[in-house]
Amino acid sequence: MNKMPYAEPWRIKMVEQVKVLTREERIEKIAKAEYNLFNLAAEDVYIDLLTDSGTGAMSADQWSALMLGDESYAGSKSFFKMKQAITDITGFPYVMPTHQGRAAENVLFSVMVKKGDIILGNSHFDTTKGHIEFRHATAVDCTIAEAGDPTLQHPFKGNVDITKLEQCISEYGKSKIPLMVLTVTCNSGGGQPVSMENIKAVHAVCQKYGIPLIFDSARFAENAYFIKTRESGYANKSIKEIVKEMFSYADGMTMSAKKDAIINMGGFIAMRDQQLYRNCATFNIMFEGYITYGGMSGRDMEALAMGLQEGTEYDYLHARISQVAYLGNLVKAAGIPLIEPFGGHAIYIDAKNFLPHIPQLQYPAQVLGVELYIEAGVRGVEIGTVLADRDPQTREERLPKMELLRLAIPRRVYTNSHMDVVAWGLKQVWNRKDNIKGLKIKYEAEIMRHFTATFEKI
Ligand SMILES: Cc1ncc(COP(=O)(O)O)c(C=O)c1O
Repeated sequence: MNKMPYAEPWRIKMVEQVKVLTREERIEKIAKAEYNLFNLAAEDVYIDLLTDSGTGAMSADQWSALMLGDESYAGSKSFFKMKQAITDITGFPYVMPTHQGRAAENVLFSVMVKKGDIILGNSHFDTTKGHIEFRHATAVDCTIAEAGDPTLQHPFKGNVDITKLEQCISEYGKSKIPLMVLTVTCNSGGGQPVSMENIKAVHAVCQKYGIPLIFDSARFAENAYFIKTRESGYANKSIKEIVKEMFSYADGMTMSAKKDAIINMGGFIAMRDQQLYRNCATFNIMFEGYITYGGMSGRDMEALAMGLQEGTEYDYLHARISQVAYLGNLVKAAGIPLIEPFGGHAIYIDAKNFLPHIPQLQYPAQVLGVELYIEAGVRGVEIGTVLADRDPQTREERLPKMELLRLAIPRRVYTNSHMDVVAWGLKQVWNRKDNIKGLKIKYEAEIMRHFTATFEKI
């Protein structure tokens, strides 16, 4: 009863002005953007929850670390500092910088994935799936069935169904499976974590069949926070200890450092095997840059090294994940359907149940995103049929189990008053939901269409 309330373990030193347009102006802006929220100018957005990727606020220590950046082409001090931080935190001895997470996927998959391959995983992220399908390989999802039920309470909805995993290996054959990708936490599945028990079980299966296990690690620290707070046996371990244990079960990792390393741009691949490192080096040099900078400047590698330490502190993670839960609880209290448990970096509104009269092929989550922008100047992103893309073979629309509007919260950027506005905006849309109509696509790209598609109202 007398417990001190939580508050962020930081205070604000510098602020950035944001603009609030009128509702009429927003109606005009979103029509001009052809109902794709990616097409909006950022300055026309009041609260930008499009992504938590690269949108965090760096600390004073990170900003001062920028001044130490060594911009040497090869072997810069900043690279070695970053490498040391990555090895200390993950245990991987080989580290290769890339300009962001998808670039890490591109380099690694250039080495490991070929036409006809099967890449097993737990709700592969869209760029991961994109890089797989671009190589005419197939991503096969082995996430537990519980993840498909938006309100089912399960502490680790990012978990892999181990029986399905084994079945897939025997169905497709080990020789077709060059690697397995385990995403921690699982962004496409609702920001849901994977338990240590499940990580161990996946590791055991991969070991048994000799399949390399690679973690898509963008939010590995948030995953560790959930293990600490939800899994028995971990309450007294530090986040850094949990992280070390998680990675001990992997052969390598791709990382979008724009998330849990709290920097605006950067990524890397890390691994245990020297031969794999050497094979990646060729592609890194071709696509990214020399192996000790890979598309990053020295100053950003300094900030990354610092950000990794800060991002794996319990107090920081507690404040961050509590803010996501603060918004989740406000939305839930209003009776608005959303994915539970709340994710680590985002809440996901269940658009299928919010707008049940809009069929999936009229993109209810896209519609909800547009309406929330109109109502409160809040920008989210569709995780539904638009994102799912067409089947690469049949070109038919793929209909995912869930239609979600993701509201991803940038790290250390917004206050809980901003979260109050977001919840208020959703309530306004909820109150007039029956009169909302669907959208149809006017233009779409062949792959990863959600970024550039345009729409019109039905
Ligand atoms: C789980 C996951 N993997 C990979 C990526 C790709 O990273 P990036 O945006 O840095 O290319 C993202 C980005 O959102 C992600 O969430």
